[in-house]
Amino acid sequence: MILAIESSCDDTCAALVTRDGQVHASIRSSQADLHARFGGVVPEIASRRHLELVVPVVEAALAEAGAGLADVDAIAVTQGPGLIGALLVGLSTAKALAYARRVRLIPVDHLLGHVAALRLAPLRLEPPFACLLASGGHTLVLDVRDYAAPVRLGGTRDDAAGEAFDKGARLLGLSEAGGPALERAALGGDAGRFPFPPVLRGQDGHDLSFSGLKTALLRTVRAVGHDVPEMRADLAASYQAAIVRQLAERAAAALEKTGHGALAMVGGVAANGALRAELTDLCERRGARLSLLPPAMCVDNAAMIGAAAFGGRALEPGDYLALDAYARSPLAG
Ligand code: KG4
Ligand code: ZN
Repeated sequence: MILAIESSCDDTCAALVTRDGQVHASIRSSQADLHARFGGVVPEIASRRHLELVVPVVEAALAEAGAGLADVDAIAVTQGPGLIGALLVGLSTAKALAYARRVRLIPVDHLLGHVAALRLAPLRLEPPFACLLASGGHTLVLDVRDYAAPVRLGGTRDDAAGEAFDKGARLLGLSEAGGPALERAALGGDAGRFPFPPVLRGQDGHDLSFSGLKTALLRTVRAVGHDVPEMRADLAASYQAAIVRQLAERAAAALEKTGHGALAMVGGVAANGALRAELTDLCERRGARLSLLPPAMCVDNAAMIGAAAFGGRALEPGDYLALDAYARSPLAG
């Protein structure tokens, strides 16, 4: 049994997984409410909250799995990328638990973790496949032939897709933060009312860009206002459609380039219903197989960190005490 800990941003997560891809427990304690009034995650507040939550969250995961620390034979933990202070809380906890029990520690890259979620039940997806990774901090197009070393085909040149959702929600004056709020606001809206401009493809057709779209929304909101509910729904639906369109175009390009005939989508934005519908259509048209995670496995969780530890670099006690967190992933380019 692997105990996994994730604390890279504003969710404190712990999970217990086994090497057959079974998730025995996955606990996620969100700090979203704590940060909402600041309009974004405040790093120092996140670290302090992780400190308070990490032990209860690990205990809750063990209880949910009906297991004790004696059942844990390795500990996986997010080493980066993310907020350094937040990461250090998870990393220090993992080191202390692992060293006390003299078990091995497996440091995991958060982005590889998102992709590794596909290894778990219920999907247990085998490579090769093309993969879109869209979260609050990253947006990447990947060719996955080996879970340990996905190849980056392209990525965002400015904002991440999740960031575009988050900023859009704020520009529309939604009372709740983030992508789920924008998705709800878009329900029943006319996605064709505001034709936001298409985004030019990068040189090789795999890069993305969202900052121009955000500016276009800002200008449109200034021109028409967002106080009338129907107007707000049409704005949200049109903006969401523009994000979805770009992601779907890059997914199509990745299928073409890799020739894999299989597509997967990971990261928080993969929970978006409009995007899931669009990719389902796309894969049907192309006769490709689409793998979609349950929404709870798209957003940050520790089970995916445990999954990335299968076959990962396991460090012996004594070799991991000096391990440091990192802010940027090598995969992000
Ligand atoms: O993967 P994740 O939980 O954390 C990071 O690694 O960043 O992704 C969080 C991002 C946020 O930007 C959030 O607004 C977005 O995923 N997100 C969504 C939805 N659920 C989460 N965006 C659009 N629609 C959703 N339903
Ligand atoms: Zn994430």
